[in-house]
Formats: sequence, C-alpha cells, structure tokens
Amino acid sequence: MKGKFITLEGCEGVGKSHQIRLLEEYLKKNQIKYYLTREPGGTPVSEQIRSVILDGKNVSMTDECEALLYAAARAQLLKEEIKPRLEAGELVLCDRYIDSSFAYQGYARGLGVEFIEKINSFAIQNFMPDYTLFLNLTPEQAFKRKGGVDKNDRLELSGMEFHQKVYDGYIELSRRYKERFIVIDASGEKQQTHAKIIGALKEKGII
Ligand code: TYD
Repeated sequence: MKGKFITLEGCEGVGKSHQIRLLEEYLKKNQIKYYLTREPGGTPVSEQIRSVILDGKNVSMTDECEALLYAAARAQLLKEEIKPRLEAGELVLCDRYIDSSFAYQGYARGLGVEFIEKINSFAIQNFMPDYTLFLNLTPEQAFKRKGGVDKNDRLELSGMEFHQKVYDGYIELSRRYKERFIVIDASGEKQQTHAKIIGALKEKGII
C-alpha cells in the first residue's frame, strides 16, 4: 500500500465534523492532495445501506444484522473508493472506519471484538488505517456541548449508558492499538483541537 490511510473516530457530538472541515481547509490551503470519505456511506450502495442502518423506524434490527450491514457498507467503500486510491499513493481520510464497529458493535452492543474482527476481515482484507485520530471527549461533555440528542437518529436515541460504553470501548482500543491510535484531547477550543490534529499529522510525517 503506497498511500496513507487516516481515520477519524470519536463518540457522538465530539465535534468530529467540524474538525474535518478545518482539516480540509488546512489541506487545501497548503495544496496537499487528499480524498475524504465517510462511514457508513461514501458510495451510492453504501449510502443506501447507511439509510437502512440509521432509519429510526428499524427498531427491530438485531445487533448482528447491524454489525454485518456496517461491514457490508465498508466492503463496498473499500473496494470502490479507498483501495484504488491507496494503491495510487493518495492520502485517504475516512470519517469513521472499523474502530467504530469495534467500539459501537463490539463493546457497546456486546458482540465482542473477535466477532467484529471476524466479519470485518472478510470486508476489509488487510486494509487497516496507518493512523487513527481519536477525538477524546466523554459523552457527557459531548452532549452538553451539543445541546441534546437528535430524535430522528436511531443510534443517538440509545441512552447515555450506551454512549459511555462506546467511549470506554474507544479507550480500550487506544490501548490495544497503541501504535496506530493518536488520542487527541477534544475538550478545549475548536482551534486548539485543530492545532493538535495538524501537529500529530506532521509528527507522523503524513502532511
Ligand atoms: P453519523 O450521523 O455519521 O454520526 P457521526 O457524525 O457521529 O459520525 O452516523 C454514524 C453512526 O453510525 C454513529 O452513531 C456511529 C455509528 N457507527 C457504528 O455504530 N458502527 C460503525 O461501524 C460505523 C462506521 C458507525
């Protein structure tokens, strides 16, 4: 794999989307070529899978079905968009990737990391991120900052207990994958968090 593969992770409402916008501005200003995509989604097929997963009406969806749908959306995105770009030597940024499945389905839903690894090894082959930027903010801090929950989003409707499990899962992952995880303190001002992200990417020789 010639390119660089960077993923961004974090709990709900940590300001990930805003940080991605700031990062894009920086990359454009500095004429650094990149490709940005998101999960679940990023291709027409994966976006359709996304709407099924996030549809508030699908209350009967089993945890196993959910995990497999995320993996299916990922398999499509990887083969259609990510893999060819990495092979061409590009910088690929992905808003969420396999660590979201580890944290949300593996830890919080209780399916276990091994099960997620198993279904995803088929979906992603060996395409693991070079680095994963984890925006570290507890769900309590995040929801306070965001000012509440989106009632049309099935996953955001899950209780605080669920989001705390997701957070604990991420902390566990940051220990398990020490070499890959870059933990960014996201509790400060947006510009401070942005500066930390740029600093980390420079330090790792990505930009
Ligand atoms: P989205 O609206 O994109 O949330 P965010 O802005 O926080 O990224 O919705 C994606 C949701 O899907 C989010 O709640 C995290 C969840 N998710 C999983 O549970 N497992 C996964 O593998 C992925 C990629 C996302």
